[in-house]
Amino acid sequence: MRYWDLPEFDDHEQTCLFTDRETGLRVVVAIHSTHLGPACGGTRYWHYASDGDAVADALRLSRAMSYKSALAGVAMGGGKAVMLRDPARPRTREQLLAYGGVLNRLNGQFATGEDVGFSVADCEIIRTVSPYVGGTESAGAGDPSIHTATGVFNGLRGVVKRALDRDDLQGVHVAVQGLGNVGWRLAEGLAQAGARLTVTDIDADRLERARVALNAETVAPDAILGVEADILAPCALGGLFDSVTVAGLRVRAIAGAANNQLATADAGAALRARGILYAPDFVINAGGVIGAAEEIAAMPGRNIRVTRPIEDRLADIETRLLDIFDRADRAGETPEATAMALGRELIGR
Ligand code: NAI
Repeated sequence: MRYWDLPEFDDHEQTCLFTDRETGLRVVVAIHSTHLGPACGGTRYWHYASDGDAVADALRLSRAMSYKSALAGVAMGGGKAVMLRDPARPRTREQLLAYGGVLNRLNGQFATGEDVGFSVADCEIIRTVSPYVGGTESAGAGDPSIHTATGVFNGLRGVVKRALDRDDLQGVHVAVQGLGNVGWRLAEGLAQAGARLTVTDIDADRLERARVALNAETVAPDAILGVEADILAPCALGGLFDSVTVAGLRVRAIAGAANNQLATADAGAALRARGILYAPDFVINAGGVIGAAEEIAAMPGRNIRVTRPIEDRLADIETRLLDIFDRADRAGETPEATAMALGRELIGR
């Protein structure tokens, strides 16, 4: 396979494959851009159908990190790592320590934290041997999903302003897909702000808890995209929207945490054609990166100064989205296209 020919390849500065025979560790680290600073991005622990799929995922995710950090106003480059899960053997502490060695060998060009399959506890173990890991309780902000949820809440407020011309959330009907680390916290915040909730999750216990604790209406997972509501908040998996699913939506706007929500190149245009306002996922879900900035700034060799309080930096997500919506309107294009163009400019591409 020629990696340079993969559709996910976007002039990535560096892509490395690391192997540790003793522990069975296999990791792909992709560094998309260091234009704004050393690359940062979480580590995903996942089983891939092929090694090529793992490389493609690392390339795609690291590119998204460049845009996310740039638009979040964080002086970091974009990178991402995927650690290959071998279904035949469990991951060990030794593998995580070996991964710490990999990070040290990269000598600060890449710093990492949590992603799918990677917990705060995992980061704490790596931290014992490498300074290039964030998202720890001991040295930083801990679980990034707390800040991600706050950021999505702030962004959703901006979306309500723009799509519904409303300054508060009282009685605003939000359909939340996925009640995990981010979705549950978001739903809690929305309930406290007086929003009306319709929620779903494939985990029946979580759904029942939301019905009782948040006074939420519940629907089956396959019904959520058809719920008639003001806002849809996707907080489960990406790849949701294409011309078919967009045609079935009955909401005024979309504002949620899930990465890569637009499944096809024409999905953004289909949403715009239907008058459904879409908050680009890599803008609204940047709270985790914003919250990790202090910890990353303190790593060796970093030259980042974080002076404003985290609450203010998370509040910026609302104003940033409103600015993107204005620019998109003026340009007659989708908010996604506007955000991508701004991001490209910021990373010097
Ligand atoms: P999580 O794994 O804690 O929660 C996901 C939830 O969605 C789970 O409760 C799961 O049961 C549910 N779910 C999965 N498939 C579903 C389906 N088909 N229908 C309904 N529910 C379904 O994940 P987390 O951390 O809450 O992240 C949610 C999304 O936000 C993911 O797409 C993630 O990539 C994205 N994200 C998360 C960040 C973070 O800081 N945790 C940062 C940026 C993006």
